[in-house]
Amino acid sequence: MDNLKNLRGTVDLFPDQLIKWQNVEKILLEQLSRASIKEIRTPILEMTELFIRGIGEGTDVVSKEMYTFLDRGERSCTLRPEGTASVARALIQNGISSNPLQKLWYMGPMFRYERPQAGRQRQFHQLGVEFIGHDSVRSDVEIIVLAWDILGKLGIKELNLEINTLGDTNDRSNFQKSFLKWLETNKDSLDLDSQNRISKNPLRILDTKNLQTKKVLENAPRLFNFLSEKSHNRYLDLKRQLEVLKIPYVENFNLVRGLDYYTHTAFEITSGALGSQATVCGGGRYDDLIKQMGGPNTPAIGFAIGLERLILLAGKELEIPRNTDIYIINQGLIAESLAMDLSRKLRNYDLLVELDLSGASFSKQFRKANKLKSKSIIVIGDDEAVNGEFTIRLFDQSGNGNENEEEVISFENDIKLENWINNNLLVK
Ligand code: HAM
Repeated sequence: MDNLKNLRGTVDLFPDQLIKWQNVEKILLEQLSRASIKEIRTPILEMTELFIRGIGEGTDVVSKEMYTFLDRGERSCTLRPEGTASVARALIQNGISSNPLQKLWYMGPMFRYERPQAGRQRQFHQLGVEFIGHDSVRSDVEIIVLAWDILGKLGIKELNLEINTLGDTNDRSNFQKSFLKWLETNKDSLDLDSQNRISKNPLRILDTKNLQTKKVLENAPRLFNFLSEKSHNRYLDLKRQLEVLKIPYVENFNLVRGLDYYTHTAFEITSGALGSQATVCGGGRYDDLIKQMGGPNTPAIGFAIGLERLILLAGKELEIPRNTDIYIINQGLIAESLAMDLSRKLRNYDLLVELDLSGASFSKQFRKANKLKSKSIIVIGDDEAVNGEFTIRLFDQSGNGNENEEEVISFENDIKLENWINNNLLVK
């Protein structure tokens, strides 16, 4: 077993940690269903071609970070690095025109071969939301507000929304011509990484982290100045609507995002409470993707939230496990089978019921119930088995039962059992 370890950048999650994940996921699902967004599930494994065409060959994700391999049929497969391309593929394949307006969400693992650090893993999880067929500025606003409110609902502090517009294909190609000219002239002042990007993905140079290059870029042509009047007005409208809703934003003209499919609105939400991997949510409009992938002309916009980063940010109160409602202490052949039967009955009441399977002494089982801070206990031993009745009592945490709240109930008397549960466990 010496060498059997998990792969770098992947993690095991144990029950104590998963309490927080489950609580966060529960809140996320509630929020999504309240906004009438429906779930979609696509395969984790896709044809490599999907991501090359969908995300763009020159992006870091496709050129450096994908988990790609040949399967036994010599087909090139890739573990999905994100969800948008898969959703687009699934919709095209399923005949998008029969249902052109859709609001969808997905949640699950994604894979990118990045350098692992706090908040950055090779297998990580995203909640993604995609509004398909929506082209109004209002849909951009709804998407941004949805992401903002989800993070707010989880009590996440120090949030910053950054927005930008990438214009349409035409705007961008006009800008690119002039930007490329400028890059060639100023090539020597750029860092090496940015120099390498000139031929591969020049737009990405704009969000370099290199301070010297950042400074030089201040004099570069701006995409913003190449926007058509229509694109420009669209952007102004977006800002106006965000202001009406009092969603604070900062404009960041260098926000270009790491995937090639974006048009018009691009946005990111960061939190000051995270370290260097501060972006908890990223998204934007992708009006050309579905057409580019062989579907009908279908505008769309979406975002994805990184769940590991969300968990790092979510409050401590979400780490608290739900208390056991009833702990069933039992010992003896007949007693144990009666206890099993009773536990099945009790679980129909939306109660958290733990059946002790240890066969240990009563006092050990009492100690376990105490440790779990169970709200109540049932004891079933040989006497109870012979008499056909058990005692259920509230547990006062000191290890003793509370005499006032105890009741002797026959195994057959479901009405008495239900009354006791209603009066003692289900009352708020
Ligand atoms: P993205 O910006 O590449 O966008 O990823 C979205 C979020 O996933 C990031 O903001 C971050 O929180 C999380 N994330 C990304 N990589 C890692 C990693 N290695 N470890 C941990 N968390 C990570 C997309 O994926 C687009 N599909 C979003 C989108 C949906 N745009 C339109 N629709």
